[in-house]
Amino acid sequence: MKIETLRLVNYRNYLGEHDFQFQQGINVVHGRNAQGKTNLLEAIFLLSRGYAHRLKSLKDAVHFESPGFYLRATTQLMDIHHQIVLKYVKGKKTVQLDGKDGPGREALLKVFPTVLFVPDDLKMIKEGPSRRRAFLDTEIAAFRPGYAAVLREYRNILSQRGALLRDIRYKGTDPHMLSLWDGQLVQAGTRIIRHRMDYLQKLNLKARELHSVLSDDNEKLTLHYISNVLQDKRDLSRLEATYTQRLNEGKGRDLERLTTGIGPHLDDFSITINDRDTRLYGSQGQQRTVAIALILSEIEIFKDIYGTEPVVLLDDVLSELDIRRQQSILSLLRNTQTFITCTDSSFIPEEIPVHTIEIEGGKQI
Ligand SMILES: Nc1ncnc2c1ncn2[C@@H]1O[C@H](COP(=O)(O)OP(=O)(O)OP(=O)(O)O)[C@@H](O)[C@H]1O
Ligand SMILES: [Mg+2]
Repeated sequence: MKIETLRLVNYRNYLGEHDFQFQQGINVVHGRNAQGKTNLLEAIFLLSRGYAHRLKSLKDAVHFESPGFYLRATTQLMDIHHQIVLKYVKGKKTVQLDGKDGPGREALLKVFPTVLFVPDDLKMIKEGPSRRRAFLDTEIAAFRPGYAAVLREYRNILSQRGALLRDIRYKGTDPHMLSLWDGQLVQAGTRIIRHRMDYLQKLNLKARELHSVLSDDNEKLTLHYISNVLQDKRDLSRLEATYTQRLNEGKGRDLERLTTGIGPHLDDFSITINDRDTRLYGSQGQQRTVAIALILSEIEIFKDIYGTEPVVLLDDVLSELDIRRQQSILSLLRNTQTFITCTDSSFIPEEIPVHTIEIEGGKQI
């Protein structure tokens, strides 16, 4: 699939009307810092998903001097053209797909799938578990429209349970009240764990393959889900029962620490190369290669699920890599519509055809 045209009106630093035409293959969006490259990618992502990474409120995306913004994309998916419009005026958002109001997230994703990567994603390997959980959760939410709601529900119950733990300790509330929350917590938590394990299994297969291409030797990458509920994956069929039991066993400790010590909010996944932990033993380059293998795997999984390639948005990701890796990514993506932002496009080898878009001060020049 591809996005053919994009219109931005009063979006971030794009004051007034701006029309863009894009090509199949690699579109390089370049320009100096703070000119509007990320804003352009953000608008594409927002049209496709209905929400965007760094946007807390759509209000922030309205040009400072305007009451609202307007975005419109035309896309092509297997010979069929679609038009997606997102308007935000005076606090009210309207989304239209082919002239009809209010398409669901799933309908949008089907006609206009995108994946976005930012430099922070490269840090995922080295940093603590919360970043890896966030990576899994964002990916899964993109594929399974109900997942975001389950996550919200889980977080909600978790915080209510936390409040109850404090009430039991400080206000003398009956500790038996905990079991009111625990049933719901286990239900939502179990769904999260199953979704994550299922996704990680897919990711493991794809990432292993891609990693060996990128590292051009016989490094074997393995991803393994670490659940603090289930120590042994073979017990998966008894997940709910084990979860309930461990939650019960941990009640004393939870009351002492005033926090829930069991559940997927504490899970992680391990990344090993030839059975050694990449976090501890991997070189900088190996860690980056793994991150890229994960990114490219997501694209492959998307293809399997939706039957089409997503539009790939790489915001500043390539500039963080060495030439050899940059080029292997470019050649893997040359047939996928890809947007790459950078301040200097000279790293792109001549033999790879690209369409360049230069941005300056919120305008294409
Ligand atoms: N709502 C808004 N209205 C007007 N301008 C905005 C708004 N939000 C952000 N900007 C401005 O948009 C400019 C461009 O931001 P953007 O993040 O797209 O830059 P960039 O080209 O990606 O730069 P870099 O190379 O540093 O990543 C910034 O100077 C920012 O102040
Ligand atoms: Mg930027």
